[in-house]
Amino acid sequence: MGKIIAIANQKGGVGKTTSVVHLGAALKMSGRKVLLIDFDPQGDTSAYMGFEDEDSKTVSQVMEEFVRNGLADIREVIRRSEKNDNIEYIPADISLAGAEMYLISVMSRETVLKRLLKDIADDYDYIIIDCQPSLGVLVLNALVAADGVVIPAQTQEFSKKALKAITDIVGQVQQSVNSNLRFLGILPTMADNTAMTRDTRQEYDNIFGELIFPMNISKSVTAAYSSRDKKALCFKAGSKIGEEYRMFAEEVERRITDEQV
Ligand SMILES: Nc1ncnc2c1ncn2[C@@H]1O[C@H](COP(=O)(O)OP(=O)(O)OP(=O)(O)O)[C@@H](O)[C@H]1O
Ligand SMILES: [Mg+2]
Repeated sequence: MGKIIAIANQKGGVGKTTSVVHLGAALKMSGRKVLLIDFDPQGDTSAYMGFEDEDSKTVSQVMEEFVRNGLADIREVIRRSEKNDNIEYIPADISLAGAEMYLISVMSRETVLKRLLKDIADDYDYIIIDCQPSLGVLVLNALVAADGVVIPAQTQEFSKKALKAITDIVGQVQQSVNSNLRFLGILPTMADNTAMTRDTRQEYDNIFGELIFPMNISKSVTAAYSSRDKKALCFKAGSKIGEEYRMFAEEVERRITDEQV
């Protein structure tokens, strides 16, 4: 049975999309079958994967069909990213912003994505969901569908409030609708050689202990170049960030398959 991993933080610009793309690329490189789901109306993962076909169906239309007719095939929106070792992905675009509206009147509105993914979960080893920066109904859908959640957090500023809000939501989802959900950990991103990074990492360690991933993802302009070039750094030999994300992916696999937790 494939594992579904949500990458979430309601704070914007912390490295969610970059982590989704690189976790996916790293897992794909180690031979896993991977599907990325863009679940953010900003469509950043889709752009990263080279999605340009603006008139074609995205996750939003399939979800709407599903809630209106009780029937939809999520497979019809699966694409491949040629520049990224043909990694499979489901695109999103701005129309997904309307989902908040059409989901309001739907029964079990937080389980729609879970029900949609049921048919394809076994086709993959990992399905990785890129969440939008909010704590709304789409993020809730991702957390309900997921077996594990990773929270990227910048080491540039320590935002206790933001982390408390998202970890509280994860706890509530675990206690109410999805007892399978594992909190895989917090991934410190955009780390550099400053005292700010060292102090923030230290604070994360003190508060969250082993829930902080052991590696930091470094701050590097190559991350921005990689989204412009639409190619994950894991596929570029000698990339420091690519290597860090490969180590992160190994740890994610260890944590999600660990029977002890
Ligand atoms: N390790 C890094 N070093 C430097 N820049 C980075 C790094 N990771 C991501 N970035 C850049 O920071 C910006 C935000 O990253 P990203 O889009 O991954 O964050 P996000 O959490 O998905 O944002 P949003 O909340 O808007 O969805 C992007 O311009 C990205 O290229
Ligand atoms: Mg993003």
